[in-house]
Amino acid sequence: MTIRVAIIGTGGISGAHVRGLREQGDDEVELVAAVDIDAVQVKKFCTAFDVARGYTDVDEMLAKEKPRLVHICTPPSTHCALSVKALRAGAWVLCEKPLCGSLAEFDQIAAAEQETGNYCSSVFQWRFGSAGQHFKRLIEAGEFGRPMVMICNTTWYRDVAYYQVPWRGKWRTELGGPTMGHGIHAMDHLLYHMGDWREVTATMGTLYHNIEVEDVSMAMVKFENGAMGSIVNSVISPRQETYYRFDFENGTVELKELYTYTNANWTFTATPGPESHLHEARWRTIADDAPATQGSQIRHLLHSMAHNERPLVSGPEARRTLEFLSAMYKSAVTRRPVARGEIGPGDAFYQHIYGDPPPRFNR
Ligand SMILES: NC(=O)c1ccc[n+]([C@@H]2O[C@H](COP(=O)([O-])OP(=O)(O)OC[C@H]3O[C@@H](n4cnc5c(N)ncnc54)[C@H](O)[C@@H]3O)[C@@H](O)[C@H]2O)c1
Repeated sequence: MTIRVAIIGTGGISGAHVRGLREQGDDEVELVAAVDIDAVQVKKFCTAFDVARGYTDVDEMLAKEKPRLVHICTPPSTHCALSVKALRAGAWVLCEKPLCGSLAEFDQIAAAEQETGNYCSSVFQWRFGSAGQHFKRLIEAGEFGRPMVMICNTTWYRDVAYYQVPWRGKWRTELGGPTMGHGIHAMDHLLYHMGDWREVTATMGTLYHNIEVEDVSMAMVKFENGAMGSIVNSVISPRQETYYRFDFENGTVELKELYTYTNANWTFTATPGPESHLHEARWRTIADDAPATQGSQIRHLLHSMAHNERPLVSGPEARRTLEFLSAMYKSAVTRRPVARGEIGPGDAFYQHIYGDPPPRFNR
């Protein structure tokens, strides 16, 4: 049966969602409607992408269109309320990152999932490229041995004009800087491969931009599997790059790109030894070459819908990343290490990811 899809929020990222949907089979999904509080914007979007009906009211769209899948592409502070609304209207949700603004909000979404039987997943397209999936399978098969040293750098550049968009740069509407908005992809991907983290120590600064939120954050993390990692998230790095380095007992795996990757962006280097070339040849053999895009994530989501299974980046998997980010803010504000599990109801960093009152990070 064709799945009726609606998109809420028709700004910058919505085009990537349309392209992702249109990569799927015509009989699998149909984009039936779009909503934006800006009437001009939604009209422009419907014309550009040949979408039949545009709305400015989310409730009206949900009542009339009864979509089975809703994509949420609005600014971060609106994500939780819109996700809960769509779940209650009978839809599954694919919500842009960050999924929500706090563990308290996450738990509201989890309760709505429980109440409705529908699932809400967060966009983390980096998990869905075929090289990333291949790497995950190799780790699970024990190919690399003990994980030891991890590097995860999101060194991006955003100019002053980027922060002129009214919702950006403010705690209340963007919910954070490169920790919540940019490095979130790479950090989620790191946690996907490393599993549970144990403790994080972070520091943050607002070094360049005239904004409320941080423009750089750094962290040191210990994982339950014994590995240690270093993380940099920046929007003030003129030569932009996303870089990972995973050093295991049996070899080093690296990924260098910017916003997405294909197989060619990964390198596998075995620990020197008589069979290292054989290991490398095996590690480099990847069956498919699907890019890390919204389209690849949507394909996975449709499979989950067909089998009524929880999609990959939802529930505990999504909560782990959000808890990690909450702990980074808590560590940066309190200037001490934060352990997994310590941020519960009653903690200021449970209610708001950045705590209460909103912090100011000095130069
Ligand atoms: N996955 C990625 O790689 C990626 C990349 C860029 C942006 N994003 C995320 O996508 C989201 C949107 O970013 P953007 O750059 O497209 O923003 P944008 O400002 O360009 O577009 C947001 C749109 O949502 C509309 N909107 C605001 N509140 C609304 C509401 N309550 N109901 C309906 N429409 C509403 C606005 O009018 C606007 O047209 C953000 O959460 C951002 O972090 C993700």
